[in-house]
Amino acid sequence: MTHAPQRSVQVVAHRGASEDAPEHTLAAYKKAIEDGADALECDVRLTADGHLVCVHDRRVNRTSNGRGAVSALELADLATLDFGSRRTRETWRGRTSDTEEPDWEHRPEDRAETSVLTLERLLELVSDAGRRVELAIETKHPTRWAGQVEERLLTLLKRFGLDAPPSAAESLVRIMSFSARSLHRVRAAAPTLPTVYLVQFLTPRLRDGRLPAGVGIAGPSIRIVRNNPAYVERLKRAGHQVHVWTVNEPEDVDLCVELGIDAIITNRPRAVLRQLNRG
Ligand code: G3P
Ligand code: CA
Repeated sequence: MTHAPQRSVQVVAHRGASEDAPEHTLAAYKKAIEDGADALECDVRLTADGHLVCVHDRRVNRTSNGRGAVSALELADLATLDFGSRRTRETWRGRTSDTEEPDWEHRPEDRAETSVLTLERLLELVSDAGRRVELAIETKHPTRWAGQVEERLLTLLKRFGLDAPPSAAESLVRIMSFSARSLHRVRAAAPTLPTVYLVQFLTPRLRDGRLPAGVGIAGPSIRIVRNNPAYVERLKRAGHQVHVWTVNEPEDVDLCVELGIDAIITNRPRAVLRQLNRG
């Protein structure tokens, strides 16, 4: 089924609806889709046996009941871990910036929803969503694996028919990275896939709104946008889209709307959609 691309400011669920459910789990992504998010953000890493899994940190220690580097573990090892066990209602409450109770609770019987999530499973979820849900995939540790992350990623996207969209605007998937080299590899193999250059520090080279060759979208942090709204204007003038992370505070959402930001990447898609009168 084809779905028309969305034109207004996109609400992108960062690691899923990660304020309500444990980040990068099926539970968090299902919740984001239910909440009405336009797109899902995920980080991908390679396991020791070459599978792409959705995990942010180099190690699994923070987000699961296991220990060790993703790159040193096989998918079967990761499958024994629970990625929902480390976050209790109390820790959520501590991180939640409004007074609402999180409406997801870790229950051991829901283990399938919180086991390690492969990118393949996430692609299936998006394909079966029944409406257009875009996917913003961030490549992690791209230098360590010398191109293998991008190679596996593009092979997987090809299997889902998502590696060669007719144009960037029609693509269901975009690839993000802090590494220009990683984006270059993607562009060389899949020239019509949109790419997003993530910007954490506004270096003199970037200040004038230029991006690495061929990259169409800038992904500055909300801190950069708050401190340098003129940077957004320069990016827009240079013809780039701007996708901002991680926007959780209502006043930052207002700022993004005021500046004409194209995508708001947030841990709280439901709250942001409500603020935008879309939920
Ligand atoms: O969406 C971009 C943002 O996720 C980058 O930072 O550390 O959350 O991957 P990080
Ligand atoms: Ca990320």
